[in-house]
Amino acid sequence: MSNLDKLIVGPGWPVTYNADGLATVHNADFRADSKFAEAYRLGSATLTAFAGVDLRWRFYVCCWAAYQAKLNGGDFVECGVNTGALSRAVMHYIDFDSMLDRTFYLLDTYDGVPLEQISHAERERGIADYNRHYPDCYAAACSTFAPFKNAKIIRGRVPDTLVQIDPRKISYVSIDMNVVEPELAAGEFLWPRMMTGAIMVLDDYGWRPHIAQKTAWDEFARARGQMILALPTGQGLLLKQ
Ligand SMILES: C[S@@+](CC[C@H](N)C(=O)[O-])C[C@H]1O[C@@H](n2cnc3c(N)ncnc32)[C@H](O)[C@@H]1O
Repeated sequence: MSNLDKLIVGPGWPVTYNADGLATVHNADFRADSKFAEAYRLGSATLTAFAGVDLRWRFYVCCWAAYQAKLNGGDFVECGVNTGALSRAVMHYIDFDSMLDRTFYLLDTYDGVPLEQISHAERERGIADYNRHYPDCYAAACSTFAPFKNAKIIRGRVPDTLVQIDPRKISYVSIDMNVVEPELAAGEFLWPRMMTGAIMVLDDYGWRPHIAQKTAWDEFARARGQMILALPTGQGLLLKQ
């Protein structure tokens, strides 16, 4: 190990996290927080395809974003919910059931990516194959969110279903639909409805098969004078300022 390496990574420093495409020696104490641990347990219990994979840092980012959005006021939106893992965790973390003046809009086909929305380049990267991980999960999602009177499940194809969102102010957006077309359409629709300080978490932003989404979202942000923060979890963070 060179002297420079010793300064950056001390000798014997243990790796604190090595999962989900991210390895680090940095502090990962958020995992010991009992509120977060229970949020993660509840969310990850809904997972099917990714069951057993340690996704905690990704969930933590969403919990943090939701916490800030709770302070900001406004409604919550997720496009690409599947069984509801991320949103279920977020709802527990911020006690969304007690935020009765706020609505959590949960949009998904609940049975996979519409094939006509997958571009040729995305097909070549294998995105069409993802649908084998997305069998019909509508009943499971309804059951997951049944305890939340202020959760609104909207089934159908984004962008067609976006008009069913009726918020004057949105403070939290999670986008996780795996392909460019519906994600950018959701961005165009939601951005003008997002409050100043609102946070958008882009789940696929840094993942190699999803480079088309990164390129499209970078252009989306640039056109609005904004910049996306690339996180080591693979997520992208876009603030509306
Ligand atoms: C990676 S999963 C979402 C995972 C979810 N965020 C979680 O917490 O587990 C992607 C989801 O996007 C949905 N999806 C993809 N394209 C869509 C579209 N145009 N309209 C609605 N849902 C879509 C799929 O049905 C699938 O459930």
